[in-house]
Amino acid sequence: MRLRLFSRLAVMLIWLPLAGTLLRAQRLDSFPTQIPQHDAIVVGTAWYPEQWPESRWEEDLKLMEAANIKVVRIAEFAWSTMEPSEGHYEMDWLERAVAAAAKHHIMSAIGTPTAAPPAWLTQKHPEILRIEENGQRVTHGNRAHGSSTSAIYREYSRKIVEEMAKRFGRNPNVVGWQIDNEYGYALMSHDDVTRKQFQDWLQRKYMTLEALNSFWTTAYWSETYDNWSEIPIPVGGHNPGLMLEWKRFVTSVWSDYQTNQISAIRKYAEPRQFITGNFMGFFDGFDHYIMCEPLTFASWDDYVGSGHVDPDFNGLSHDLTRGFKRANFWLIETQPGAVNWASVNNYLNKGEVRAMAWQAIAHGADAVSYWQWRSALNGQEQYHGTLLGADGTPVPFYEEVRQIGQEFSKVQEALRGTTIQSEVALLYSYDSHWAIQFQKHTRRYDDIGLLKSYYRALRKLTPSVDVISASAPLGGYKLVAAPGLNVLPKDLANHLLDYVRDGGHLVLGPRSGLKDEHNELQTRRQPGHLADALGARVEQFYALEKDFPASGDWGSGQVSIWAEQLGLLNSSARTLLRYRKSNGWLDDQPAAVTSAYGKGRITYIGAILDDNLMNAAAAWMAKESGLRTPVLSIPEGVEVSMRSGTGKRVILLINFAQEAKKVELGKSMKLLLSGRQEQTVELAPYGVELLQE
Ligand code: GAL
Repeated sequence: MRLRLFSRLAVMLIWLPLAGTLLRAQRLDSFPTQIPQHDAIVVGTAWYPEQWPESRWEEDLKLMEAANIKVVRIAEFAWSTMEPSEGHYEMDWLERAVAAAAKHHIMSAIGTPTAAPPAWLTQKHPEILRIEENGQRVTHGNRAHGSSTSAIYREYSRKIVEEMAKRFGRNPNVVGWQIDNEYGYALMSHDDVTRKQFQDWLQRKYMTLEALNSFWTTAYWSETYDNWSEIPIPVGGHNPGLMLEWKRFVTSVWSDYQTNQISAIRKYAEPRQFITGNFMGFFDGFDHYIMCEPLTFASWDDYVGSGHVDPDFNGLSHDLTRGFKRANFWLIETQPGAVNWASVNNYLNKGEVRAMAWQAIAHGADAVSYWQWRSALNGQEQYHGTLLGADGTPVPFYEEVRQIGQEFSKVQEALRGTTIQSEVALLYSYDSHWAIQFQKHTRRYDDIGLLKSYYRALRKLTPSVDVISASAPLGGYKLVAAPGLNVLPKDLANHLLDYVRDGGHLVLGPRSGLKDEHNELQTRRQPGHLADALGARVEQFYALEKDFPASGDWGSGQVSIWAEQLGLLNSSARTLLRYRKSNGWLDDQPAAVTSAYGKGRITYIGAILDDNLMNAAAAWMAKESGLRTPVLSIPEGVEVSMRSGTGKRVILLINFAQEAKKVELGKSMKLLLSGRQEQTVELAPYGVELLQE
């Protein structure tokens, strides 16, 4: 009975009007992720024709077409085939492969091959091979071995990319480009060239060594620099100011690295061809907001590795990627059953990959592409999951992809021109993430885990949550939660205050506002520039060796890992939660406070809450912020999402549970996948349904 009630509540959000939702994210008339004259949502695969005799291609493409595959990702490791010796380009084969795919109604997205420079190049210029932290130069034969700071490597990269763009920039069957592959995982060469570039970059930024020495407090441990050339590349723990700047420098290097290729492509390519990059969810090697600026849209590679999909974390990762450009994205690589690099490369359950494919769409993806079609007979990834076996015929998983493709085709029109429009945003900041990672203070501190706990609790109450940069426009969100803004300089604080003054509800989590932009401790107590508006401050923080009790407006429960003792500065602040008997210092002290400010509200939660407290806190946030969606519980294991736009609205139900679930809709709706009109949806384990009024 209880479950049924929850089911009804869960879908009540369907009936709520969309009017008033601010389109702060994607303009609804611009969907570069949906390719004109093609299905709005598509299935794809990575295909490496260079690894196979041409006589085999036709059979592969026939099988792809039969599996409803509409796009191939092609050429991203084919440098040695496209330029077998210096300046000698051979791309006829690629042109033939693209044309052959098109005959089967398959578009091509071309990857630039710079993740794998050819042997003639690394032989001629061994200095382009990266030097690792331990001082050793990498050898040829893996990938990501080129140095991103090497001018020589950039030059060779530019030449091959330019040749490719000349050749394919107007090819009607090439719909877009991917830069590199996973950007060398942001690995840097620890060589003199890089160090000099880092020093020059610092000089441009700080202008004088006096400024740098002061912002980094280099008098500490005699770190004072009298010459730019003395500044090292940080290895291991180092000065926090230096370490944060190094991360920003790494971002600028990879950003320039891709600009070098983007400009080569744009010189010859028609504007209709997109340019994307394949990112990796919460991989933190560089600042993805900066990296995504010049790209048409963001893409990512979603791999589960060992075990099974965690729908909350996976959903959060999709939403993070959507937030990179606040627009729809592509899932450009995902796991066809199993990978080859995890501790246990178990296969995902039958149906699990389909649920994941639909989850990607439900969170704003317009393509889902499997890596890869068929394993190369030799090479490092022989054991990875595929759609075909080594004998060239389908493995059992092929059928699941065929079904996904068929379903995508069936409903694609309903999803054309639709995106995710949220009332709630979570703020993410690479500076803050890095600053916490450098000095976790307790090895148990996990800022992404904390983000996930907010996400999980809030996502139950609303059909979507945006995850966006802390400096993104906030107008229109009813609730903005920033669980980890450790680095909170004044301009960012003002940006947040503007949001609150205009009527928004800002919720801050522990460790907020401790640092400024140089990763220096602020001379105002946490949350720094926001303390006055909050009417409270952090008196002391405590890393916890065990859980402590807390109770208040959100009921009672436990706090763990981190607790901040809050102190009220004025009578406008109200205590929402207090620690109970714990370490003496925290006993009965405020753990969460809230204050009205301007037309809005600011709330500070100084501890990591257990699930019950977090859920109650989220319910309070939703109510206090006036979310249009009712406070509701979604049946355990079922995710409800919504895509809307251009007059359409589609509800997506995905059952991640291993047992069947029933959802009462309360009124009759069109079930797009099963093609029926029903008041009840029966979801099999890993079952999916799309609803339209
Ligand atoms: C990705 C990579 C692919 C392939 C895949 C295997 O990270 O981009 O090229 O190696 O992993 O899971």
